[in-house]
Amino acid sequence: MLDLPSVIGHRGAARHAPENTLISIRTAALQGARWVEVDVKLTADGVPILLHDDMLDRTTSGHGPAAALTFEEMRRLDAGGWFHPTFRGERVAALSELLALAVELELGLNLEIKPCPGRAEETAGVAISLALSLWPQDRPPPLVSSFDFAALRMVRQVAPHWPIGYLIDRRRPDWRQQADAVGAATIHVNARRESARTIAEYRATGRQVLAYTVNSVPAAREVLGWGVSGVFTDTPETLIKGLAARGTDRG
Ligand code: G3P
Ligand code: MG
Repeated sequence: MLDLPSVIGHRGAARHAPENTLISIRTAALQGARWVEVDVKLTADGVPILLHDDMLDRTTSGHGPAAALTFEEMRRLDAGGWFHPTFRGERVAALSELLALAVELELGLNLEIKPCPGRAEETAGVAISLALSLWPQDRPPPLVSSFDFAALRMVRQVAPHWPIGYLIDRRRPDWRQQADAVGAATIHVNARRESARTIAEYRATGRQVLAYTVNSVPAAREVLGWGVSGVFTDTPETLIKGLAARGTDRG
């Protein structure tokens, strides 16, 4: 069993700071999150960075496919001003920086491998090899998840002992076989598509379940009541305080 908190910061604290940046991670920690989730992909020259979309336009000052820019080119972009002018100057974070910050802040990590098209195995291989080399052996390893099965198979190969999260949006008929094949420790589901019955099915496989993205206390309370271990949220403080208010927070 993994020591999972009931509240995990989604892309840091995505409602309060520009998602997947270092300031978003610090914000989540300041809000009381013990764990954060981030999205990992590769630059054109193979450097693992934090970014959700395949395109640069929504969350940076750049345009076009993220996979077209080298790390050096990407670092010239602004990854904060789109969110609010006070965050201007924030840069696209390197995975190496995220790992160092998580160690500094003693945060648990969920690294979601979010490959650009055609780069699933490469992204998982490069990112997790780097994480393995940088992550302190005396800290619990990051939980590594992906919607991409090929990426998860590569994670299992590169880091045989690190926990894997099997991500589901619309579930496929063979979700059980795939989760078994990569030795998934957890199943991460879209809270809006699930029910008490489906959560019970996932839990019956002996796995802990996490649900994304839950931004209200009543919604969090409902899925936690179904047996979900924790929720990913853009607003950690709201949920931590709201759940604690009625004495149901499990940390
Ligand atoms: O890892 C949970 C969640 O982040 C998956 O969806 O699109 O927000 O990365 P997305
Ligand atoms: Mg994600």
